[in-house]
Amino acid sequence: MSGNDVIKIIVDHIKPKNRKKVAIGVMASGNGSNLQALIDNSVRPESHFAITSVVVNTPGSRALERADRVGIPNYLVDHNTFTNKRGFEERIYGCLVENSVELVVLAGFLRVLTPYFLGQFVNQIINLHPSLLPRHKGLNAIEKALLARDNEAGCTVHLVDAGLDTGPMIAQSICPILKDDDLPALRYRIQQLEHQLLPSVVNTIAKMVITRDCA
Ligand code: GRF
Repeated sequence: MSGNDVIKIIVDHIKPKNRKKVAIGVMASGNGSNLQALIDNSVRPESHFAITSVVVNTPGSRALERADRVGIPNYLVDHNTFTNKRGFEERIYGCLVENSVELVVLAGFLRVLTPYFLGQFVNQIINLHPSLLPRHKGLNAIEKALLARDNEAGCTVHLVDAGLDTGPMIAQSICPILKDDDLPALRYRIQQLEHQLLPSVVNTIAKMVITRDCA
């Protein structure tokens, strides 16, 4: 299946309705630099998406601040305060539904979602991963690429399924691993790619939805 085929599946699962922009919900756990890239892209004239909510699971994450600064509704849903995953995911679902989210973007969200949550947004959740999947799934992907002495690294945007970084690929960006690369150097280079790739994929999906609904 090509990346375009996957995009078509996602677009088909976003319900037709009358609106100017596709409503995106972003979920993050850390610094939120990818959230920032999405925010910056969403205000460009050529953008077809709006971020209507941000959900963060870790107290102190900069992603909350970044959303707050531009007035995007943002929620801290700390997994440690729930006795089970279902309660945690139901709360997140509530935050997203309250803001009419049509596409969920995992931008550095470090929890695995259960079939319950996936079932609420069937084929409407995409994830960003800092490796050339299917290589180096899971945590510490950049370290794994260095340890494996790979020649290339990069990032992948894929549709989320019930596995860990196993869903069908939408798009990838590649960079070389240089002889003297250490973790910070390679991470920096991959993040530069991520900040281009993720907004570009989100806008491609959003543009197709808006074009379809305006036809
Ligand atoms: C990114 O490298 C992403 O690929 C990974 O976590 C990192 C998040 O970075 N899943 P940030 O919070 O967006 O700065």
